[in-house]
Amino acid sequence: MAKVEASRPVVVTGGAGAIGSVLVARLAERGHRVRVLDNLSSPLPGARERFAAIPRVRLRVADLRRLGSVESAFRNAEAVWHLAANPDIRRGTADPRVDFGDGVTATFNALEAARRNDVHSFVYASSSVVYGLPTRFPTPEDYGPLRPESIYGGSKLAGEGLVSAFCHSYGIIGHVFRFANIIGREMTHGVIFDFFEKLRLTPDRLEVLGDGRQAKSYLRVDDCVDGMFAALEHAREPLNIFNLGTEDQTTAREIAEIVVEAHGSRARIDYLGGERGWTGDVPRQLLDTARIRALGWKPRMGSTEAVRETVRELAQGRGIAPSG
Ligand SMILES: NC(=O)c1ccc[n+]([C@@H]2O[C@H](COP(=O)([O-])OP(=O)(O)OC[C@H]3O[C@@H](n4cnc5c(N)ncnc54)[C@H](O)[C@@H]3O)[C@@H](O)[C@H]2O)c1
Repeated sequence: MAKVEASRPVVVTGGAGAIGSVLVARLAERGHRVRVLDNLSSPLPGARERFAAIPRVRLRVADLRRLGSVESAFRNAEAVWHLAANPDIRRGTADPRVDFGDGVTATFNALEAARRNDVHSFVYASSSVVYGLPTRFPTPEDYGPLRPESIYGGSKLAGEGLVSAFCHSYGIIGHVFRFANIIGREMTHGVIFDFFEKLRLTPDRLEVLGDGRQAKSYLRVDDCVDGMFAALEHAREPLNIFNLGTEDQTTAREIAEIVVEAHGSRARIDYLGGERGWTGDVPRQLLDTARIRALGWKPRMGSTEAVRETVRELAQGRGIAPSG
């Protein structure tokens, strides 16, 4: 996307989160004024200070579950990037109201605030989990029927439905991205982060949920942001849906071994067994990314390379010397 001299700001909901904070920095670099809207329920540590240091970025702490408290943040905006959500599938299973509030209600309110303020571009962070347990790999965007297995996945699909309806009813251009697993140096959740946390608590044993054969695609956060920019630049249908992932997969076993090696602890890896790591887990995920690749995007790193790089960065961030 070319550098812009933007007069109207863009709104990034969930902009204080792991993906959002990278997106915000990249939008600001490109000349956008950015309004970050976030309730700071799962922010990156230091997000506030970081935004304070970027002149074009303003943080507004507000909760999308209440339309009245967020609507004015959308005033005069040229686009909304809606990334706010609960990121933890297991939390949504334990209490389904979490994904209803931070997923369905928050997405409705973001769309309604966009509509009331005549914002004509809406970007939505969806997920590969909307496919449920697909029988076709790699899974293309037109795969169906979509039968998500987790409450989180259900809320993402409900959000897609709302985005589609608002786009077709009110002339908004929508971009929906079904992300694979997004990883990077500053992740605050997800399997790599969890493994490091477990090893911090029990350095001689790493417990892995499932049988270790779960195989998924892991995409670096910078590649994810580049993919979204490529789609926004080139795809201008009323509703544009894209998978974003790598062409290869990495198993939970491989990740566990890479983390243990980087940790240098010689921890024993214990697999708790079962095809799925937890209720609602999708044991196999590989997205067909031909549609976004046709626009000229491809990730700089494949899945296992992305995992290795992220493990190296997380180890470094925790002061763990590289082994070997
Ligand atoms: N990380 C992944 O692997 C992945 C995969 C698929 C989809 N996604 C989606 O991408 C988006 C960003 O994910 P992330 O990994 O950066 O998560 P994250 O938790 O790091 O960021 C989400 C942000 O949303 C904010 N938020 C949550 N509920 C809110 C509310 N009601 N009002 C205002 N702010 C609220 C949180 O404080 C947080 O800063 C989410 O929509 C997520 O579902 C992420």
